[in-house]
Amino acid sequence: MKNSGWTRRESLAGLGAGAALATAALTSSCTRQNPEAKAEAKVAPGPPPDHDRRIAWWRQARFGMFIHWGLYSVLGRHEWVMENEGIPIPEYEQLAGQFKPKPNAARDWARLAKQAGMKYMVMTSKHHEGFANFSSKLTDYCAPKQGPGRDLAAEFVEAARAEGLRCGFYYSLMDWHHPDGAVCATDEQARRRFVDYIHGQIREVLTNYGKIDILWYDVAWPLDAAGWESEKMNKMVFQLQPDIIVNNRNKLPGDFSTPEQRIVAEANKDWESCMTMNDSWGYQKADDNWKPPKTIVRNLITCARGGGNYLLNIGPKPDGSIPEESVKILTSVGKWVDKNQSTIFGAERCNVARSSYCNFSRKGNTLFIHVYDWPGDTVAIGGLKTKVKSARLLASGRDVKVEQDDLRVRFTGLPATAPDPLATVIAVECDSEPAQDMVEVVRKGRKRYKA
Ligand code: GLC
Repeated sequence: MKNSGWTRRESLAGLGAGAALATAALTSSCTRQNPEAKAEAKVAPGPPPDHDRRIAWWRQARFGMFIHWGLYSVLGRHEWVMENEGIPIPEYEQLAGQFKPKPNAARDWARLAKQAGMKYMVMTSKHHEGFANFSSKLTDYCAPKQGPGRDLAAEFVEAARAEGLRCGFYYSLMDWHHPDGAVCATDEQARRRFVDYIHGQIREVLTNYGKIDILWYDVAWPLDAAGWESEKMNKMVFQLQPDIIVNNRNKLPGDFSTPEQRIVAEANKDWESCMTMNDSWGYQKADDNWKPPKTIVRNLITCARGGGNYLLNIGPKPDGSIPEESVKILTSVGKWVDKNQSTIFGAERCNVARSSYCNFSRKGNTLFIHVYDWPGDTVAIGGLKTKVKSARLLASGRDVKVEQDDLRVRFTGLPATAPDPLATVIAVECDSEPAQDMVEVVRKGRKRYKA
């Protein structure tokens, strides 16, 4: 970012080097003209106040639906089409008149989410293109005043609530349509106008739709936390919605972090992996790189194993209908979740992870072994340090024979073919929290060389 007269030397003066570097990282070019922003440069390292209370439901939920829907859906060439094809703003604006979704499309999303076992939904209220799916007094570039002729955010919230699901808004800070959206990095007056606009729109989405459970910020380019006045932003958010949770993409830690297209169980943090079912968030007609239901189920288990959430995306067509392939995948995933929900919802971080054909999740002292490549008669796990008391096949309740020594535990007498081809769960009762240690027990212990 360009620096408007605030030199690095000045900012280092009088400070210890370490502290100066930390401060410099949080100091925007705008802080010199804007003392308020300067005061914001000191960012608290942890989550916002009252975090455990606000996030308790989300820790149980584990599985949510992400919905990317906007003008880009009309073109069907990915939500970054405006930028990546270099489409001029006046040409792109034409799409606003062509976007004419069928009424209440969100009801089908909500029904499918429920059927898939999802507990919450997060919809793009405004993506990088700048078009608001909600009613905004601050711009005419919003659904009620354009092609849709009605408030798509209101329909979304109503649909989610009707299915008993929690609901949240995604909101992109970056805005390719707003005239100050890029120049705000170097022009203080532009930054002031733009930040007021963005804060104002966030106020709108959190004021006009009743209780909102999640605010999902995205892309903070081209400003930093000080430039966005992110502390003030979050403060407003919690004033408007005292129970809400916010993510970390306004450059503050937020209530949870947001690994994208990958699953990373971050230590000592709440986290949510957001992922697509093909390779695009917004509708992309030709993208047929669909993940099979088995991959989706495995991803869900991996998230549950790490004590995190899985936010899985659909990119509805411009009329709001869900691509057929997504419906098929989610329907099949939903059948699995329905049978195995006790292994996912409320799952806690699980220390058992190593196997070449199983995945794991845990609740208290119960270890759930999710066998996705069924080996036949015997399933074996190495390095389990906990005593196994009993085991059963979760779906049928049938008892499973257990043989355990200090190197491995074996579950024997199992059916020759997989009872559930997506993943068959063996529920294992242990006498303490299950833990696995491959290094000490299996490799270094060398117990396998004993007679
Ligand atoms: C990225 C992309 C965006 C998508 C988001 C979802 O930031 O820019 O298109 O909405 O990821 O996490």
